[in-house]
Amino acid sequence: MDKTLFGVENLDVYVVLGILIFFVLSEIIAGFLASTKRNFGDWVQEAGGFFVLSLLIKPAIVASVFFLGRFLFPSAQNAIGEWSLWLMLPFYLLIDDVMQYWYHRSAHEYEFLWKLHRPHHQAEEMGFFVSYRNAALYYVLMPNIWWVGVVIFLGGVKGVALGLILKQLVIIGSHSTLSWDKFFYNRPFLNPVITLLERIIVTPAFHHAHHGKSMADNVSDPNANFGNMFSMWDQIFGTAKYTRQFPTDYGLVNDPKDKWTASYLWPIVGSDKPGSEIARDYKREKTTTLEPSRVELEPNKTYLFCQCGFSKNQPFCDGSHHGSKFKPMPFEVKKKIKARLCNCKHSKSSPFCDD
Ligand code: FES
Repeated sequence: MDKTLFGVENLDVYVVLGILIFFVLSEIIAGFLASTKRNFGDWVQEAGGFFVLSLLIKPAIVASVFFLGRFLFPSAQNAIGEWSLWLMLPFYLLIDDVMQYWYHRSAHEYEFLWKLHRPHHQAEEMGFFVSYRNAALYYVLMPNIWWVGVVIFLGGVKGVALGLILKQLVIIGSHSTLSWDKFFYNRPFLNPVITLLERIIVTPAFHHAHHGKSMADNVSDPNANFGNMFSMWDQIFGTAKYTRQFPTDYGLVNDPKDKWTASYLWPIVGSDKPGSEIARDYKREKTTTLEPSRVELEPNKTYLFCQCGFSKNQPFCDGSHHGSKFKPMPFEVKKKIKARLCNCKHSKSSPFCDD
């Protein structure tokens, strides 16, 4: 199999390594890692997870695809090997990225996948290594890694090589604290450039908003901006949120601070923290009632009304909607009022009770 790219053997490996080193060094020089709040468990999950993914999970999946491919579809091996790089690249990248969009979105909408993806959102600060913070099983089930194996099996190794370089550049850039897009926001004459860029690729502001802790800051929305490399999927499927601002708080509301062993190895290891979503005895239950809540609401404050019916702080959101198709409804009032807020979650005047 010819592994050269633009005439250089293993160019993709060198470039991807170069991208990783560039972002790590830049974050060190900028002082982000010196002032980090990460503890030992965070480092194990992020840096350790990176090495396990790169050296164990990805090679094992690609080898499995080859084994299965040769056994089930031997004539398909190298079927696209004669394609030009410029055909292989979009073939690999577009299918990869739309699958990643739906896998990521599903990880926010379905409880089992959410528990595997949850460590990614427990990070209280952004940075290069957050890109690799998920439970190990999340990567094993990730369709994209299997797709890498399939395209290489079909002979599209050059498309994968160049695609991975471009993906790494965008994905690590969107998680990094370097936030390259701020350069554009501060210079109005560059507005058309960033407007075009952010409609195509995922920018740091676009992705940081996805990691923000609470929608109450009017910037964050963990249930939006699921795109991996291309932001266009969010526009096509109606989940894009552009603010060009960065959240001040990252992480999860009511994070029980599970040990890294549970976060990384769930469902093999469960959490020993009471109330944790990944504790063995955790069961998510509806907390809706037929009685509205009588509350006093203040002006100039964003409230998050629970729409999922799982919050233990009804009628307000406590973050329990993760892993469901619901998200909270932000609302404000113009003056101080007493109100009856819906607790059955069927009101047509939500968040207010319509009896
Ligand atoms: S707990 Fe957030 S919407 Fe119900």
